Order: sequence, then C-alpha cells, then structure tokens
Amino acid sequence: MKKIRKAVFPVAGLGSRFLPATKANPKEMLPVVDKPLIQYAVEEAVAAGATDMIFIIGRTKRSIEDHFDKAYELEHELDMKDKHDLLKLCETVPKHVNCIYIRQAEPLGLGHAVLCAEPVVNDEPFAVLLADDLIDADPPVLKQMVDVYNYNRCSVLGTMNVPRERTREYGIVITEGQEGRIQRMRGIVEKPAPDQAPTTQAVVGRYVLTPQIFEHLHNVQPGAGGEIQLTDAIGALLRQEAVLAYQFEGVRYDCGSKIGYMMAQVALGQKHPEIGAEFAEYLKQVCEKAGA
Ligand code: G1P
Repeated sequence: MKKIRKAVFPVAGLGSRFLPATKANPKEMLPVVDKPLIQYAVEEAVAAGATDMIFIIGRTKRSIEDHFDKAYELEHELDMKDKHDLLKLCETVPKHVNCIYIRQAEPLGLGHAVLCAEPVVNDEPFAVLLADDLIDADPPVLKQMVDVYNYNRCSVLGTMNVPRERTREYGIVITEGQEGRIQRMRGIVEKPAPDQAPTTQAVVGRYVLTPQIFEHLHNVQPGAGGEIQLTDAIGALLRQEAVLAYQFEGVRYDCGSKIGYMMAQVALGQKHPEIGAEFAEYLKQVCEKAGA
C-alpha cells in the first residue's frame, strides 16, 4: 500500500477578505502569534509523515518560497552572534522535506489548483491542506486522517458540524452509517443555501485523496461561482469508489475570515510558550474590566 508522502497546498487565492494586508502579501503568510498560517499547515503535514510539500502558487506568493528557503545573510548573522535559539526558528522545514512550487496561472478554482499538482503527485494518494483552516488538535488532524486512510485505504475528508445559517460557506456532505467518527459518504454539494443544505456537516480544509480524483478533475465542468470545484470531482469519485467523512477531533479556526483569525490569535496566544501566561493574564483583566 502506498503511503501518504505528498501534501498539496493551494495558495494561489487572492485573499481579498484581508485587504489591504494581502495587497502585496499572500494571506497564508499572515502570522498567528509568530508563525505564518502556511507554516502551521506544513508542520501538520510533516507530523502526518509527508515529505514532499507541493505549493500551488500565484501572483504575490514569492514570500512563501522565501519562507521555506534558507535565509543566508540572516542565518549567518545569527550564527556569528551565537543566537542559536533564533537560528533554530529559521529552520522552517526539516531537512528531509522537499518543497516544490507550481504556478497556477489563472485562479480557476480549488479543483483546478489541485489538478495543477497532478504532474508531481502522479499515481500516489496525497493530502490537500487549506492553510486558512487552522486546526488546533493533538494529534494533528492530518495525522488522524492518515491513520483512517491507512486502515481503510480510500479517500478521507475532514468534516465538522456548522450552524445551518453558514452552509453557504462550505462543501456539505451527505453520509450514511457511522463508526466512531467515520461515516461513508453518499454525496456532497458545494455551498448550498441554508434551506437547501441536505445536512450541516461541512468539509473543512483537510483532504486525503486517491489519485483517481485527477480523472474527475479533468472532466468536471465549472460549478459554484463558475469555478472548477474540488467538491464536484469528489462527488464523481464517490460514485466510483468509497470516500469517507471523518469528524476530526480538534478546534478549527477559519483564518480566512477576520473574526476566525482573531479567535485563533486569542486561543494560540494563550498557549504560546513565551507570552502565553502574560497574555492570558491580560485577557483576564480585560474581561474583568468589561464585566465591572
Ligand atoms: C473551500 C471548499 C469548500 C470547503 C472550504 C473549507 O471553499 O470549496 O468545499 O468547505 O474550502 O474551508 P473556500 O473556503 O475556498 O471558498
């Protein structure tokens, strides 16, 4: 059985919800405390055993390449000054990991972005991570999903329940049967209106996919929003082979939205080894003042 070695990060989106911060910088480089969103996603993929990180990039994404590359002058300077703790922080990916960049010339949708990875993924199963879905979990969510994949040997989608009024933001799954956190998928619809959503179980940005998905991505027509949707290709895939929905264990922050991003700062800020205790104390004081 082939292992999951490759992880795809579609990072070519415009990030328009974060303008002006994203005018010249990719949204995936926005930090939560001191680490960019994309680094959280890459660390999650590494923890799940992936060794090849495939970034589907677009305009303004050069800083992602720089982030995972060596920064010679900076690292040399830190070395000279014996600042080894800081030097360690510059090692943004472990040495055994390869970073591969593929340019998506036109933003034709998430499905199209994943299809751009086909020449590198070939006929292996692989993971897709959307970096703006930051998930705080132990074990990390992709690791949980790879375990499910290794046992069942079929595609696995990370899902969670959302309020009905928000179904328009997600791919919504129809499932049957349940074994613990795992269900077999019967269907999937992209961004249905609340009164048309078949369920409230939503896909968040974690997928483990078999390479058969590419065949369907080649064939799907533009769907919701006129884009080539990964959801539609998954809908075709599940008519051919088993696809599982996995209700992951962990807390997900929608860092593609300002409010979700701020919530992530508050949650991860309080856990941060350097500032966590002080920040938690500060928040306590803010709450006490607000309550007074
Ligand atoms: C994408 C997918 C959607 C999924 C969501 C998770 O939508 O198309 O099915 O539920 O990610 O974050 P986007 O957020 O890119 O509009």
